[in-house]
Amino acid sequence: MTSILGISAFYHDSAATLVVDGKIISAAQEERFSRKKHDAGYPFNAVKFVLSNSKLKLSDVDYIVFFEKPFLKFERLLETYVAFAPRGFNSFSMSMPIWLREKLFQKKFLFDKLKQHDEKFNNIDKIHFSEHHFSHAASAFYPSPFKDAVILTLDGVGEWATTTVAKGKENKINIFNEIHFPHSIGLLYSAFTYYTGFKVNSGEYKVMGLAPYGEPKYKNLILDELVSLKEDGTFRLNMKYFNYATGLTMTNDKFSKLFGHKVRDPEKDLLTQFHMDIAASIQYVTEEIVLRLASSIAKETGSKNLCMAGGVALNCVANGKVLKKNVFENIWIQPAAGDAGGSLGAALAFWHQELGNKRNINHGKDEMKGSYLGPEFNTNEAESALNSLGAKYEKHDDENLISLVANELIKEKTVGWFQGRMEFGPRALGARSIIANPKSEKMQKELNLKVKFRESFRPFAPSVLREDLNEWFELDCDSPYMLLVSEVKKSKQIQMKDNEKKLFGIKKLNIKRSSIPAVTHVDYSARIQTVHKETNPKYHKLIKKFKELTGCPILVNTSFNIRGEPIVCSIEDAYKCFMGTNLDILVCENLVLFKENQVKNFLHDYKNKFEKD
Ligand SMILES: [Fe+2]
Repeated sequence: MTSILGISAFYHDSAATLVVDGKIISAAQEERFSRKKHDAGYPFNAVKFVLSNSKLKLSDVDYIVFFEKPFLKFERLLETYVAFAPRGFNSFSMSMPIWLREKLFQKKFLFDKLKQHDEKFNNIDKIHFSEHHFSHAASAFYPSPFKDAVILTLDGVGEWATTTVAKGKENKINIFNEIHFPHSIGLLYSAFTYYTGFKVNSGEYKVMGLAPYGEPKYKNLILDELVSLKEDGTFRLNMKYFNYATGLTMTNDKFSKLFGHKVRDPEKDLLTQFHMDIAASIQYVTEEIVLRLASSIAKETGSKNLCMAGGVALNCVANGKVLKKNVFENIWIQPAAGDAGGSLGAALAFWHQELGNKRNINHGKDEMKGSYLGPEFNTNEAESALNSLGAKYEKHDDENLISLVANELIKEKTVGWFQGRMEFGPRALGARSIIANPKSEKMQKELNLKVKFRESFRPFAPSVLREDLNEWFELDCDSPYMLLVSEVKKSKQIQMKDNEKKLFGIKKLNIKRSSIPAVTHVDYSARIQTVHKETNPKYHKLIKKFKELTGCPILVNTSFNIRGEPIVCSIEDAYKCFMGTNLDILVCENLVLFKENQVKNFLHDYKNKFEKD
C-alpha cells in the first residue's frame, strides 16, 4: 500500500488530499474546519481529517507532495520587484506569501508544520514539490474518464505560468505551451472584479452572475486597449493599465479613465447599469479567449477530449460556450478547479508521473466519487451532536424522510440538506446544500435576502435528475459538478409578467424567465448540476419523489452557508446556520428539525457574523 498526502497552502484555498494506491480517498479544504473563508494558512485540520479518516499517522504516509515550487515562485516575485523597483516594493512585500514574510520557504518550514501531527514523523526526504500548473493539469487529467486528452489550465498565476496547454496520454502529462505572468486571464478577470467593487479571488463569481444583466458595450475597448488577443487565443495584457505587478491595487487611474468611472466603492456606490455592462464585457472577452484557445488547441492536437482546471475553469458560462461550439467531443473539468484542487493534482502527479504507475481508466466515469470526499456523520453521530446542542428533532426512515421533505418543498419551505460526505471544491452538490422549490416565483429573492443575506441578483442553480436533463435543458452530457451553463429548453421558457419583474426588483424590460424561475437566469441560462443515482442515491431519490408529486425533476440547490461564510462542515455549523437564518427546516442524515420546534432562545443574529465577501 502506497499512501500520498497532497497539500496546497500559503496562497489561496489551502487543502489536503489523501491518495492511496492511486485512488482518491479523501480531500477537504481548510476553510471548512477553520471557518475562515479561503483560509490560506497551513491546512492543519484538513491534513488531520484525511489522515484520521484512513486511520493513518503522518509517519505511516509514504510521500508528501506540495502543490507548487516555492523557489520558482520566489524568483517570480523577486524578478517582478527588480523590474519595477522601487515602485514595486509595496506590492512585493504585500504579495509575499506568509511563508516568505516569516522566513524564506524551506523544506524545513513545511517539515516543522507536518511534525505537529506526529512526533514520530522524522523523514524530511518524504517531502516533494510539484509545479503549480502541473498540479492543476494533473487534477484535470488523471481523475478524468479519458485515456488521452488535451489539458488546458487557466488561473491568476502560479510560479510563472498563468495558462498552460498539455497533452495527457495514459499516465503521462506533457506541458507544451505556456503563457507567463504578468499576462494572465485570471488576473484580467480579477482586475474587473476589483474595478466593479467586489473582492478579488472570491467576487469573480459575482461578476459572472452580473454579466447577463448587461450588454458587452466595452468589449472592443478591452480588446483594443487592454488585451492583445491573437487568432489562436494567446494574449498579452497592456500593463500600462494594471497595477498588480507594481502596486497594491489591481487597476490604476488610466484604467478608470479609460472606462470613465472610478473604482466602485462597495460601501457607498450602488451597482448600476454601467457595472453590469462592464461585467458583460469582461465576460465576453474571457469567453472569446477561452473559445479561441480551445479551438486552436483542438486543431493543433486533433484531440477529441478536453480537460480543464485552474480558477478560470470555474467560469461555467465560458465552459458552456466551449461545449456548445463542439470543438471537442467531450469536456471534463476538475470540480476543485482552484488551488484547493492542487493538493489532489500534486498527489496524483507523483503517483503517475514520478512513480510511473498506470491509470485505472473507467471509460465514461471519472474517479472523483461525485467529489464527495470530505467528512461525514452517521445518524447516531448527528443525534449526539444535536442532543448536546439542545436541538429538537424527529427521526425518520429513508422513505418517510424523502416523502416528508418533498412535501415541505412543495409548500415552498427552504431546507438545509446535510447528507453524507462533504463536497471537495467550491460548489455544494447535495451534501451540504440548501434546497428549495424551483417553480416558486418568490424563491430567488427570498433565498438571497432572508437566508443567504446577499444581493438579490445572485442566481441559483438547478439540481436535475440526469435521466430528465434533455427534456428540460439544451445540454446532452453529464454536468455533475455544476461547471456547465446551458439554456432552459424552449418549451419551458415563458416571458415574465410585469408584476413578476417587480418581485425581483429588476427594471430591465427584456427580462426572461421560465417555468422554473428560481433557477433560471435572465437570459434563460442555468448552471446545471446533473444528479446521478450512483454517486448520490439519497439526493436522487428526493428529486425523484419531488418529480412524482409535481412533474418537475429539479430542485434549487445553493450552498449551505450565508454570505462570507465557508460552506458548513459539521452538524454544529449546520445548526448554527439554521438557527441564524430564515431556513425553515434542517435535515441531517435521517433527522428532521423544524424551526418552530426549536428553543426560541437559540435563535441568533447571524446576518453580520461573517465578513462581506
Ligand atoms: Fe492556481
